[in-house]
Amino acid sequence: MIYLDNAATTYPKPDVVYDTVDRYNRTKAVNPGRGAYAAAREATDMVRNVKKKLISLIDARGQAEVVLTPSVTIALNQILLGFPWEAGMTAYITPYEHNAVIRPLALLEKRRQIRIRTLPLNETGAIDLPKMEEMFRSEPPALVCVTAVSNVTGYVLPAAEIFRIARRFGAFTVLDAAQALGLVKMRFAALGADVVTFAGHKTLYATFGIAGFYIRNGADLNEVLTGGNGIKSEDPFMPRYMPEKMETGSMNSPAIAGLEAALGWLTTVDPWRVEAELTEYLLARLPEVKGIRIYKAPEGAPQAGVVSFNIEGFRANEVAAILDKTADIAVRAGHHCAGLIHPYLDDRVYDGTVRVSVGVFNTKEDIDRLIDALHTIDPEVLKSIDKQILRGNC
Ligand code: ALA
Repeated sequence: MIYLDNAATTYPKPDVVYDTVDRYNRTKAVNPGRGAYAAAREATDMVRNVKKKLISLIDARGQAEVVLTPSVTIALNQILLGFPWEAGMTAYITPYEHNAVIRPLALLEKRRQIRIRTLPLNETGAIDLPKMEEMFRSEPPALVCVTAVSNVTGYVLPAAEIFRIARRFGAFTVLDAAQALGLVKMRFAALGADVVTFAGHKTLYATFGIAGFYIRNGADLNEVLTGGNGIKSEDPFMPRYMPEKMETGSMNSPAIAGLEAALGWLTTVDPWRVEAELTEYLLARLPEVKGIRIYKAPEGAPQAGVVSFNIEGFRANEVAAILDKTADIAVRAGHHCAGLIHPYLDDRVYDGTVRVSVGVFNTKEDIDRLIDALHTIDPEVLKSIDKQILRGNC
């Protein structure tokens, strides 16, 4: 398989991650934060070390705490549902947000009468900062949530600029770095974010099952999930302080050990350089394909290793199914859990986009194979593909 779906999850993982998770599972996987015996203390120390490494990854020492969660969707639910909303408050999001942001906010709109506004784009697809400021002036933001990288076009959004303006209006600022941490260099102080989320299994090259968020010291959220965490077990309530207030349930210590290994491995590679080279090559070759329409970062904005396209005469899903069937190439097609951006891309006739997303283990030959397959794409192949697969709308 030629795997070009790294925005869904990076695959494969570095060997050191597989080895560490396996070794940890076999020799050390006791429950951290609970027992007083040596192995449990060791597990607790390991979790503490991973948090320290995450803190140094974005230079957040003395400025933020790390909360670990089983997935970034759970982290975003905890953040967005845990914000002290009052009816009538306004949340601003960008049209590039993921359903992990859109859906918790939609629920709040329905149940708690908050308002959701979408930040404006200019004609290039970039955030229109002057118009955004006007919007903030007429309807001040309580919370602003921005994805660091679009999982549809690879646009690296100007989050620090958005937050600088949003903070002037007193907003709580959330950076969804699920598609970015480990790939895009960032420093906590420069971001101006109250919260930064991350997903272990994406640009951090760890396994599924570990994610979380940084929260600025002094920032507070209400707990959403409660339960055991080994602290003051006789108290029916969660601890009142961060990060323990937000961490409940047994931690996935093998995945956390894998994240520790991944963080070490990340210091030996430069994913941004690899992705930039591959993406430049991809963007140079895609226009060779007849009838292609490309969706990428706006002109002048940094481009991560995610690019979408469509081919005239085919639905996005059909292209992906043909690539799979004829060339064993894995790409994602459809709306990518990011429904708000598609009207701007004007891709309705294609039912979304075909998305190519590269990772550090891809090569230019993988891109060549993709281009070859697209040159010879044949609608006849569709007849031999299961109708269920072709109908799929995601
Ligand atoms: N959010 C992931 C993606 O973009 C799953 O595919």
